[in-house]
Amino acid sequence: MLHQIQETAAFLKKVFPHPMPETAIILGTGLGELVNHIDITKEIAYEDIPHFPVSTVEGHSGKLIFGSLGRKGIVAMQGRFHFYEGYDMKQVTFPVRVMKELGIKHLFVSNAAGGMNPDFAVGDLMIIRDHINLFPEHPLRGRNFEELGVRFPDMSEVYSKRLIGKAVQIAAAHDIVVRQGVYVGTQGPTFETPAEYRYFRIIGGDAVGMSTVPEVIVARHGGMEVFAISVITDLGVEGIVEKASHEEVQKAAAAAQPKMSLIMKELIEQF
Ligand code: HPA
Repeated sequence: MLHQIQETAAFLKKVFPHPMPETAIILGTGLGELVNHIDITKEIAYEDIPHFPVSTVEGHSGKLIFGSLGRKGIVAMQGRFHFYEGYDMKQVTFPVRVMKELGIKHLFVSNAAGGMNPDFAVGDLMIIRDHINLFPEHPLRGRNFEELGVRFPDMSEVYSKRLIGKAVQIAAAHDIVVRQGVYVGTQGPTFETPAEYRYFRIIGGDAVGMSTVPEVIVARHGGMEVFAISVITDLGVEGIVEKASHEEVQKAAAAAQPKMSLIMKELIEQF
């Protein structure tokens, strides 16, 4: 694994012969609009990057984008690898390993999620304060490479309090309501049954989704500072569990995008 990470990083350094950014962004389902704010220097399709998996959702193959937001150099993943697509956890998190090898120190993540907190509404933004990992395979399972991180990583502050504080200030300055809560990461691809939403609420979750947790664990293993935000695209609140579909998730994500993009953009420019 180490060898592949190094090869991919070396390849990217060759095709992007500029100072490497220290900030990376992973954009979630229907949340690619932030890309429009990026001053793009170089784009590379995943299929052209050695050892990179190729994303399959809705036929969109993803790409890696190098550029800047404000004066901050960034690298962004448009399209991510989900466990439910059939990738194993090493593949799902491979890009984050490569980011670390490139010198990335800060990771910003967005996703679409179902809300279990009864105070939430469709279209709300939820800053992830903590998570519960319910994926059936752990991304750090197997031999640990000390070069990548410690065997038993601390998880007491996965989501940077510093960045959460700044995001809250930015939201307030723009009169954008933001929630904070616990994200439950599940394998999917099914949405939840009413009983499962209730269960995730009881164990302490505010929202549930099928991504983010593996990437974030690997980022923390590598010592990156992490910020993540969910767009609530459907509700799994007891008594009002609605029918969820991929189309509706995309539609709700698209509608909430401008406020999410604004917060991410300002946060990344300012942090
Ligand atoms: N459950 C799981 N993943 C999701 C949901 C949901 O309700 N909404 C968007 N992604």
